[in-house]
Amino acid sequence: APPKRGKHFLHLDDFTREELLDMLEKAKLCKAKFYTRDESFKPFAGQTMAMIFTKPSARTRVSFETGFFRLGGHALYLDPNTIQLGKREPTKDIARVLSGYNDVIMARLFAHSDLLELAQYSSVPVINGLTDYNHPCQIMADALTLLERKGRIEGTKVVYVGDGNNIVHSWLRLAMRLSFEFVCVCPPGYEPCPSTVEGAKAAGISSISVTSDINAVKGADVIYTDVWASMGQKETIDTRKVDFAPYQVNESLMALAGRQALFMHCLPAERGLETTDGVMESPVSVVFQEAENRMHAQNGILLHCLEATKRM
Ligand code: CP
Ligand code: NVA
Repeated sequence: APPKRGKHFLHLDDFTREELLDMLEKAKLCKAKFYTRDESFKPFAGQTMAMIFTKPSARTRVSFETGFFRLGGHALYLDPNTIQLGKREPTKDIARVLSGYNDVIMARLFAHSDLLELAQYSSVPVINGLTDYNHPCQIMADALTLLERKGRIEGTKVVYVGDGNNIVHSWLRLAMRLSFEFVCVCPPGYEPCPSTVEGAKAAGISSISVTSDINAVKGADVIYTDVWASMGQKETIDTRKVDFAPYQVNESLMALAGRQALFMHCLPAERGLETTDGVMESPVSVVFQEAENRMHAQNGILLHCLEATKRM
């Protein structure tokens, strides 16, 4: 395999505040180049990215594949049936095989431990495209959106309402490096991973709280929600519909939050469950800006992690 080069992107707190801000700066640059259709910006020319998916995807697949291509590279989509990670072949074998051909591996997997194993055995950077545990690329796109809409991330109040899932874990880990107020409002029994919450509190950078009290949305700069049942949990939706009913992000919850509050959702959304069509389509909804920013945030991450700056 070629010599090891670059950094994995597995968790947001694997990076310093300055490194995260550098990725966001690079993301802004990528977006500006895209908007001006600057076709000369090809920092990934001659490079390839293998993308392993064991779950469905619209945004992650298209934004990574399109984004890498636009900056000169070639991306390979490996669907859930192609590699059959861990079934047809052990994860540690696939890590060494794919890193023998490619400059970077992006993976969307169920078990977070599989992603860590992939990274351990890969000689090229591994980028986390979502696991059951976290979704750092999404939260970088959300951070970029917040920066564009509010002019800042630090000093804002972000309130997540819903299931204490992978999205929440990445917000908590961002809060270990950037300073803002993060509140997770969830029904009892659906709290985020306790050690991740404790870790975020112990970092002493941001104010962190987890509560079942809806009133915590008051004064939020962002109200964020996500599906009540994530990929891999869809069969539990009937119980969840009952447990989450008081936590729907609807017009009255947005009114309780206040006029300053933006609405965010990583998508895909289930209108009528975690949110309503009215909120999704309202002027404070920035859900499609978040989706658009996935491509630029990820290109910023790739530029940073592949140390591609010298090719720019
Ligand atoms: N938000 C997000 O990751 O979307 P996909 O599941 O469609 O990739
Ligand atoms: N929490 C959701 C996010 C999808 C982008 C899931 O894991 O299914």
